[in-house]
Amino acid sequence: MMQFLARLFSRQEPVLSEAQPKNAPAIAALHAASFRRGWSEDEIRSMIGAKAVLTHRAMVGSKLVGFIISRMAADESEILSVAVTRSAQGRGLAGRMLHLHLRRLAGLGVRTVFLEVGENNTPAIRLYNSAGFEQVSRREGYYQGAPGQQNAALVMRCDFE
Ligand SMILES: CC(C)(COP(=O)(O)OP(=O)(O)OC[C@H]1O[C@@H](n2cnc3c(N)ncnc32)[C@H](O)[C@@H]1OP(=O)(O)O)[C@@H](O)C(=O)NCCC(=O)NCCS
Repeated sequence: MMQFLARLFSRQEPVLSEAQPKNAPAIAALHAASFRRGWSEDEIRSMIGAKAVLTHRAMVGSKLVGFIISRMAADESEILSVAVTRSAQGRGLAGRMLHLHLRRLAGLGVRTVFLEVGENNTPAIRLYNSAGFEQVSRREGYYQGAPGQQNAALVMRCDFE
C-alpha cells in the first residue's frame, strides 16, 4: 500500500505558484542539499517577504520539489538560485519554473535578467541556454570545486524583446 502511494505520489505533476514565507524551511532544506553554501531559514524568509524579490515554488501535494528566486532592481533582475529535488530532476520541471518566472518578471517591468552559473554545471547551462540566456562574461576561480580546484562562473544574460 505504501509503495503504491509512493509511486502515485511521484507521478503527480508539480503545481507551480509564488512561494510564501511558510515555505522557507523547505526551501532552505532543498537549497542546503543542492549547494555548498546554504541559506538559513531566516535569510530565505526575509527574502521571500521582500518586495524586490520574486520566488516561485513547485509542490507535489504538500511537498516542495523545486524553487526559483530572483531579486529585481529597476528594470533588471538577477536569478539568485534555482533547484529541483533530485528525484524530480530531468523531467523539465526547472524549465517550467524558469519559464513561469521569466514571464512574471517581464510582467513586472523587468527587461534584462542576469545570473551566474558554474562552468561545469551542464544541466543548469542547458536550462539557461534553452530559455534564451547567453554568456556575456566569465569570472575565473569563482566557485570552489573539488579540493584544490576552482571553477569559473559564467555570467549569463537574457533580454526580453
Ligand atoms: C539545474 C537544475 C535546477 C535542473 O533541474 P531539472 O528539473 O532537472 O531541469 P530540466 O529537466 O528542466 O532540464 C533542463 C535542461 O538540463 C538538461 N539536463 C537535465 N539533467 C541533466 C543532466 N543530468 N545532465 C545533462 N543535462 C541535463 C535537460 O536536458 C534540459 O536541457 P534541454 O533544455 O537542452 O533539453 C537541477 O539539476 C538542480 O537542482 N541542480 C542543483 C542546483 C543547481 O545547480 N542549480 C543551478 C544553479 S546556477
